[in-house]
Amino acid sequence: MGHGNLKMKKNNSDARTLGEKAKAAKPPEWIDTIKQGDCIELMSEIPDQCIDLIVTDPPFAIDFKATRHNYNRKGSRVLQGYNEIEGRDYLAFTLDWLSAATRVLKESGSMYIFSGWNHLKDLLIAIDLCELTTVNHLIWKYQFGVVTKRKYVTSHYHCLFLCKNDKKRQFYPYFRFDKDAKTENGGSAHYRDKEDVWEIKREYWQGAVKTPTKLPAALIEKILDYSSQKGDIVLDPFLGSGQVAVVSKMKERHYIGFEIVPAYYEFARDRLASGKYLIQKTETEEEPGLNLFCEEA
Ligand SMILES: C[S@@+](CC[C@H](N)C(=O)[O-])C[C@H]1O[C@@H](n2cnc3c(N)ncnc32)[C@H](O)[C@@H]1O
Repeated sequence: MGHGNLKMKKNNSDARTLGEKAKAAKPPEWIDTIKQGDCIELMSEIPDQCIDLIVTDPPFAIDFKATRHNYNRKGSRVLQGYNEIEGRDYLAFTLDWLSAATRVLKESGSMYIFSGWNHLKDLLIAIDLCELTTVNHLIWKYQFGVVTKRKYVTSHYHCLFLCKNDKKRQFYPYFRFDKDAKTENGGSAHYRDKEDVWEIKREYWQGAVKTPTKLPAALIEKILDYSSQKGDIVLDPFLGSGQVAVVSKMKERHYIGFEIVPAYYEFARDRLASGKYLIQKTETEEEPGLNLFCEEA
């Protein structure tokens, strides 16, 4: 049973107003911007300890080819140019960007990093070297892995939930479900939602422009709900389609992010500027763009 069966609380008016008011007072000018370029260089422009939450999905070093594994998708709608890292360079690359990300994270902040299993060991080594604390090792279980003949189908990603200071990090355990809310089976809804295996479906953007890999909005929303509040600053150094920034904006967080591939950067920039979750390839496509920046779509 996926989390889709749980009926979440309506949280249109977020009760955490004191912290939000303080944050609303004076936002620095570099927030709510995204930039094209190498995140390792661009993170040097961010002051120390000013980011509340980092949610990111770095390249996995799996020799990913932008259009090869896109199932039934029309190649013409998949933007080209995914910037992959060689396996032998992965530890050094991970250490570089993770050190920069650790520097900008607040003592009270949290970081969520997605990883395939292939180079997970390099990420775990880098986490130790950066002296980050692992809070949870989450598993994102998605539907439809790539079909195999001589091995099992990979249908999960790892997600490392990390912090700098376990005593100071923020966590909002009842934001999505009240303490006494029940599942359909009479169990505790907040307990069920906080289990460390998350079954969340991938999104298929039929008829819309897309990048080859993207995190579903529901996955990002769940992380934002538990580990941030309105007005917080959310960083994604590896934006891809811009999902983390787009969902952060929808949920009234500030965002900042970087993407090295110009076409992906432009796509993310256009999504943020238009307020449209999906950007249609042509006017005649059957599926309308969803305006997710409004409370009622
Ligand atoms: C796995 S994808 C991220 C997908 C994204 N989470 C989404 O939902 O669309 C990783 C992205 O990192 C970008 N990238 C790779 N190296 C980079 C670097 N040094 N600086 C910034 N972006 C980089 C790749 O081009 C790719 O778009």
